[in-house]
Amino acid sequence: MRKLSEMILVTGGTGYIGSHVCIALLDAGFDVVVLDNLSNSNQTSLERVQSICGRSLVFRHADIRHEEAIHAILRSCGVTAVIHLAGLKAVGDSNVRPLSYYENNVLGTMRLVSAMKRANVKTLVFSSSATVYGIPKYLPLDEKHPLCPTNPYGRTKLVIEEMLKDLCRSDDDWRIANLRYFNPVGAHESGLVGEDPLGLPDNLLPFVAQVAIGRREKLQIWGNDYDTPDGTGVRDFIHVVDLASGHLSALRNLRQPGVLTVNLGTGNGSSVLDIVRTFEAASGRSVPYEIKERRAGDVAACYADPTFAMEALGWKSTRSLEQMCADHWRWQLQNPDGYHGSALSKTGAVQAFPPSRMSACASAIRTGDAERIRGEHTAHQR
Ligand SMILES: NC(=O)c1ccc[n+]([C@@H]2O[C@H](COP(=O)([O-])OP(=O)(O)OC[C@H]3O[C@@H](n4cnc5c(N)ncnc54)[C@H](O)[C@@H]3O)[C@@H](O)[C@H]2O)c1
Repeated sequence: MRKLSEMILVTGGTGYIGSHVCIALLDAGFDVVVLDNLSNSNQTSLERVQSICGRSLVFRHADIRHEEAIHAILRSCGVTAVIHLAGLKAVGDSNVRPLSYYENNVLGTMRLVSAMKRANVKTLVFSSSATVYGIPKYLPLDEKHPLCPTNPYGRTKLVIEEMLKDLCRSDDDWRIANLRYFNPVGAHESGLVGEDPLGLPDNLLPFVAQVAIGRREKLQIWGNDYDTPDGTGVRDFIHVVDLASGHLSALRNLRQPGVLTVNLGTGNGSSVLDIVRTFEAASGRSVPYEIKERRAGDVAACYADPTFAMEALGWKSTRSLEQMCADHWRWQLQNPDGYHGSALSKTGAVQAFPPSRMSACASAIRTGDAERIRGEHTAHQR
């Protein structure tokens, strides 16, 4: 059995999924150090995480492309495993600036695992994506489905998966999980932590929520003539809290050396119109929409076969579409402008709670050491 004081490094831990993973880890008794460059997130999320869990974590403002900074964190904190979520994730943006995606996602992961190898930390849970499957040849998508991503973002995930397999072939000590997420939505039930997209949301639920609260006039639905029950696209929406618990199951089940590749989805397909109707019911608000032409590259339907996740991890999702919408709405209602304008964020304090289960190293890091890393990070950014 794992020691309760085990220290887990969460890259990208201030982001949407990462903040929920931190809650799952802290609640399960792990200690947590978060590494994030804050390029797409707000440090306030960690204040909220600590508030929910009543426990402290450590934050290091650093970049995964900076091997020395990662190595220093791994060594000084006594990290035993890494959950790697940091990366760029917008499909459309990846078509416009593919090199940024290869640099951030592929090069960043290379630097991260190089630092892990040097520090002899060889347990890794990696955020992959169902995007690696590309256009479904059959449904539901199981892990044996051919891999053929249709955009640079998806290709970076596939390159990383392959790189991690090669790493395991070269060294029997590595234990790696590639988790292929479907469509994470919802928020923590407290309404304190959720998805806070910068600018125009890329994903459906944040857009729907912003329409419901009046921040945007209407939703654009891209095509209603697909071969699906109501003509709109069908996806596998999974509650972000279920997704986070999948990481914990993966971490606990990495007993054998090698790579474990697992879908994290519900196995249920819901259409865009299902989401609109369920969100309207959850929020009591109307969500006006207009039907637009299909978007190039969108597929009619995409949903997971979650069987292997149950076999390999003993994990399955439990939360309904109604709960996803209700929790997302609570987050939106309590935080109409996301983390901006939050009272907590004005305190500037990341360590909001006494360091109940934190190691001495962790306490040391949050002062001068963190500043040093920040300086290195700035230099690296050119
Ligand atoms: N949200 C989804 O729909 C979805 C679906 C499949 C896979 N994923 C993957 O899950 C992971 C987390 O996604 P998310 O939705 O929480 O995104 P997010 O943008 O909210 O979180 C990613 C975090 O990584 C940080 N980051 C980015 N580049 C970094 C770098 N070079 N160094 C350090 N930190 C860096 C960002 O600041 C952010 O906090 C990503 O790898 C994404 O590709 C997300």
